[in-house]
Amino acid sequence: MADLQSIKAPIKAEMDEFHPFFRNFLRSGTRLLDLLLFYVQKQKGKQIRPMLVFLTAKLYGTVNEHTYHAAALIELMHTASLVHDDVVDESDKRRGFWSVNAIWKNKVAVLLGDYLLARGLLLAVNKSEHRQLEIVSRAVEDMSEGELLQIEKARHLNIDNQTYFDVIRKKTAALMIACTTAGACSVGAVEADVERMERLGEYIGIAFQIRDDLFDYEVNGIFGKPAGNDLRERKITLPLMHALQNSTPSERRQMIKILRQNVKTDADIDTLMNFVRGHGGIEHAQTVMAEYVEKAKAVLAETPDNAARQSLIDLIDYTISRKK
Ligand code: IPE
Ligand code: IPE
Ligand code: MG
Ligand code: MG
Repeated sequence: MADLQSIKAPIKAEMDEFHPFFRNFLRSGTRLLDLLLFYVQKQKGKQIRPMLVFLTAKLYGTVNEHTYHAAALIELMHTASLVHDDVVDESDKRRGFWSVNAIWKNKVAVLLGDYLLARGLLLAVNKSEHRQLEIVSRAVEDMSEGELLQIEKARHLNIDNQTYFDVIRKKTAALMIACTTAGACSVGAVEADVERMERLGEYIGIAFQIRDDLFDYEVNGIFGKPAGNDLRERKITLPLMHALQNSTPSERRQMIKILRQNVKTDADIDTLMNFVRGHGGIEHAQTVMAEYVEKAKAVLAETPDNAARQSLIDLIDYTISRKK
């Protein structure tokens, strides 16, 4: 299995140049804001989205300044969405550290997220990246819609397969689609190829979010993500949905009752987790994830055979085997 380091190999120079570009961009001159900006960029995250932008650019052409704009714009949107997401999810950990809301409270996190979003939009406007602005605005619209749909379903606990995929396509795959299409557009790829990249981003994004959903069941706690958080938040993800669909009405009633409790003890979470494990929820999610990996690789089979393509294949494998 390729690690992130070797996946990055064909775009190492670009990623090395991207980091200072991104860091210098995030300066404000206001003390609290600078502290916050320093804090959120100190934990860089895996940088999967900038990698996707550079790799899809390289797949079809030569990385240029438009590619850097796209990578920065998308990473800004991603960071903003994480800061907001931790408020929405009442999560106090992110990337192995305290979340912004845990340290500075929700109001600061909401405003910081807005600021990052605005900086991204301004970057695109100032550099006249109209196509990118459109691509990314659409993604941000989808992400908000996806999160709201998820909340609506958590309230009524009535999510079905189609809605689940709708939620993850919007909340996660949309931004991955922005990466792959903006990457290709930045080097002037033809529309048929941009459309291919749309499918690639969608499949990678869906597999990526299923992997994220599986983290919730990894008891020893994955780096930076507390296990059981989705269950506490009544988020019905694929493993739980499958288990609920494959259990008796009385089991289902019992689990829904626990899910509905506002306060869930560790024992409640254990009960839910054992229920999901005992009903094949984990295996099912892994199977579906593997299907999306195959779909993504099938798209890549239609693209030029070069080093970027091989890295994209490795990145897809990494997406589902990653430990954080
Ligand atoms: C987290 O994305 C949010 C999801 C879409 C699940 P990443 O796992 O890519 O976050 P970082 O940037 O590496 O922390
Ligand atoms: C991922 O939502 C989508 C966004 C962050 C926009 P999650 O709530 O599942 O992501 P994590 O697990 O907090 O990273
Ligand atoms: Mg969330
Ligand atoms: Mg979350």
